[in-house]
Amino acid sequence: MPKKIKLGILGGGGDSLIGVLHRVAAHINDNYEIVGAVFNADFEESLEFAKEIDVPTNRIYKDFETLVEEELKLPKDERIQVCSILTPNFLHFPMAKKLLQNGFHVICEKPMTTTYDEAKILQDTLMKAGTVFAVTHTYTGYPMVRQMREMIKEGALGKIYKVDAQYYQGWINTIIHDKEKRSSVWRLDPEKAGISSCMGDIGVHAFNMIEFTTGLQIKSLLCDFNYLYKDNQMDVDGTVLIRMDEHVKGVIRASQVATGEENGLAIAIYGEKGAFRWEQEKPNFLYKLSDTEPLQVYKPGHAYNSELSLDGTKLPPGHPEGIFDAMANIYLGAARAIRGERYNDGEFPTMLDGVRGLNFIESTVASHKQGNVWIDLD
Ligand SMILES: NC(=O)c1ccc[n+]([C@@H]2O[C@H](COP(=O)([O-])OP(=O)(O)OC[C@H]3O[C@@H](n4cnc5c(N)ncnc54)[C@H](O)[C@@H]3O)[C@@H](O)[C@H]2O)c1
Repeated sequence: MPKKIKLGILGGGGDSLIGVLHRVAAHINDNYEIVGAVFNADFEESLEFAKEIDVPTNRIYKDFETLVEEELKLPKDERIQVCSILTPNFLHFPMAKKLLQNGFHVICEKPMTTTYDEAKILQDTLMKAGTVFAVTHTYTGYPMVRQMREMIKEGALGKIYKVDAQYYQGWINTIIHDKEKRSSVWRLDPEKAGISSCMGDIGVHAFNMIEFTTGLQIKSLLCDFNYLYKDNQMDVDGTVLIRMDEHVKGVIRASQVATGEENGLAIAIYGEKGAFRWEQEKPNFLYKLSDTEPLQVYKPGHAYNSELSLDGTKLPPGHPEGIFDAMANIYLGAARAIRGERYNDGEFPTMLDGVRGLNFIESTVASHKQGNVWIDLD
């Protein structure tokens, strides 16, 4: 068994939403050990949390600059090899840039940065660094999403005509409708979240899901946002028409005010030979629709699945694969890349996914602000 990869964590403290997902995912395949961190902006809070989860406190640092500085003083075989960035969005860019410039691998939450310009700078920085960079578009790690991608690549749908992706999320709905609360969350503060809330936070997952599964790129879009309240500067709902080619079109629907929804990410892809439909809340069922054959349901772990899909299941069929497993699959792919082992394309979203995501987010805002016009992506 190779030695565990030394993992540092930035953000993801005990008060955070996403920290636990990364910590558990990192441990699922026994590849990583957390050896250092800045879990919170507040040093004392960070230390307390480290004690709570039994991470040695001698490598809990006051900020990310100190983490990089102090870790570089350690012998290479003791040093953090990869850092996961799990902070509010505005910190992703300075943290990732500093880490790459100092030879660390990076696992970064989405959106990768707050601007498209920053994303391109980070791309150049990575080219020079030559390290591994993964962006955690978690949902690409689900076995049946991977299966959909591989079957589409092999021509199961023939030519694709129509794509429909939805991300309707519930938990922030009541916060948005509460005047006091909506002025205090970082997701609705452009300084901390970037120029978009709904598209930047969740629409970008739907965008990534489309490009990941179809292998096609979105070439142009037209977006209509809803803001709801005068004191809120950020979109909380949006509908985006997309064109991927002359006859490949579709829609991305994202909302943070779709009352009663939970984590409703869903995708449908329609082609000349059939269609796929998949929903995040029932991730173990991939539906294949046809005009001529009965409905087919693909499930994880069966031998009929692709290598990429089977690589993401650990137990025999019938043991549900959930969000922790999906993230663990991304961590597994990143571990193979960090160790210089062979891995399959699609095992983890890359810098390119991050750059495309920011191109998408900024284009949706530009489209809406210019009066709902068509905008070309790069
Ligand atoms: N992949 C996904 O599906 C998914 C889901 C949720 C969130 N996210 C992303 O994860 C990131 C974090 O989101 P969240 O919901 O966990 O946010 P959160 O507000 O719940 O947690 C943020 C954490 O970062 C810490 N933090 C803040 N400033 C810091 C600093 N200067 N140094 C170190 N730590 C600091 C906070 O103390 C907190 O622990 C965001 O970029 C978000 O878009 C991704």
